[in-house]
Amino acid sequence: MSDGRPLGVDTCPATWSRAQASDIERAVDNVMPVIDPPETDRMDHVHVWDTWLLRDRHGAVATIDGWRVLFSLTAPAEQMPGKRHDVAEIRYFYSADGQTWHDGGVVFDGDAYGQRQWAGSALYDDGDLYVFYTAAGDDDAAELTYTQRIAVGHGGTVTASADGVDIEGPWHQRILLEPDGDWYETEAQSRGMIYTFRDPWFFEDTETGTTYLLFEANTPVPPESDACGGDPAQQEFNGCVGVAVSPDGDPLEWEMRPPLLASVCVNQELERPHVVYRDGRYYLFVSSHMHTFAPGLEGYDALYGFVAESLRGDYRPLNGSGLVVTNPTSAPFQAYSWMAFPHEDEVLVQSFFNYRDFAGDSLDEIADLSVAEQRRRFGGTLGPTVRLGVAGDSTRVRGTLSHWHIPTPGEGLPAISSDRPIPEAAVADGGDSCGSPAPFGYGYATDDS
Ligand code: FRU
Repeated sequence: MSDGRPLGVDTCPATWSRAQASDIERAVDNVMPVIDPPETDRMDHVHVWDTWLLRDRHGAVATIDGWRVLFSLTAPAEQMPGKRHDVAEIRYFYSADGQTWHDGGVVFDGDAYGQRQWAGSALYDDGDLYVFYTAAGDDDAAELTYTQRIAVGHGGTVTASADGVDIEGPWHQRILLEPDGDWYETEAQSRGMIYTFRDPWFFEDTETGTTYLLFEANTPVPPESDACGGDPAQQEFNGCVGVAVSPDGDPLEWEMRPPLLASVCVNQELERPHVVYRDGRYYLFVSSHMHTFAPGLEGYDALYGFVAESLRGDYRPLNGSGLVVTNPTSAPFQAYSWMAFPHEDEVLVQSFFNYRDFAGDSLDEIADLSVAEQRRRFGGTLGPTVRLGVAGDSTRVRGTLSHWHIPTPGEGLPAISSDRPIPEAAVADGGDSCGSPAPFGYGYATDDS
């Protein structure tokens, strides 16, 4: 049950500490099998990566006249895979059987904010559609820029018939949130790799009825700060999970609150944060990369997770370290951008097929390959859906479904012959950062600094 603590302006974020993250290790319960390329790429005219399901206000996957809808970041297949982020646009796909998907086309008609649109979430609320997204790049700039703002397109229509789903504008576009520089780092404050203020994710708390927008961001760490023992190299790694509250549940009105989780001195990017509510617990998931861990820590391209008894936290890393699902050693970059969702009494995790036949030290090395090899190794399509066992503070990869398989409501899944109980992880220490000597009021892990 929720402990009822409100998410106030003086909330202290939970921390993901270096001590916890130093326990990250591949093991049989967190590694997904090697992904074989699908026999046919179902959307071979486009690269498909970050993907989210159309859901209702309560988090259930929406079904409209028997159809379910996926939204994905996409780019023309001719684009070099590594350049796809520069031209990303949101497209939708629909399916009646959860396996055969149809391309509905691009959602916005060039009227969205930003030079390109990055990840988001989508809400179907009593017939009204809200597509939350990241407005990436400055609309007025001639060159490509990396500004990020959180936006929504609403007012479009959704029409479903026996032939499919049609999503049409005109849209009302609105910027919802920009970093404040106090709880959330601005582009100007950022040092080190690209700052983040993106990936809005709508969530209504069934226990309290409060409506939230989660997002990926960074915690400001001033150069004079003594965070991370004063080590400026570690201080550059300052990812956090941000949150805003809607005072009356209106998906267009948001007030920012301090982050739910901070990983200063640990990791720069806590990507695509989202929550699965289950058995009275809040499971907060993020994706992160091997190369975004702070110096002295080793992690993987993986899904990481945290659990708490209320949305506000304090969160404890799942399995002690936070590691939930990763790729095998032989294919460490084969999947990315995982998104967990409930199906019957299971938790399923969808992701995209990234780079196969590549086991370098960092994704950056992909650029050293020939153009032909970069293209051959890039999946650019949805990967197999992972079946995740979840119990208390522990998880276990139980098996996979096929590429693009998002089971329909009530669809029974194959029995798993080798199923074992989920191992019981020692309950990790949770904790907030209020005790830390933070010069600006909140926020960073200091346990081993
Ligand atoms: C994760 C991600 C998101 C972002 C998108 C841009 O795969 O970095 O955070 O919205 O890719 O392509």
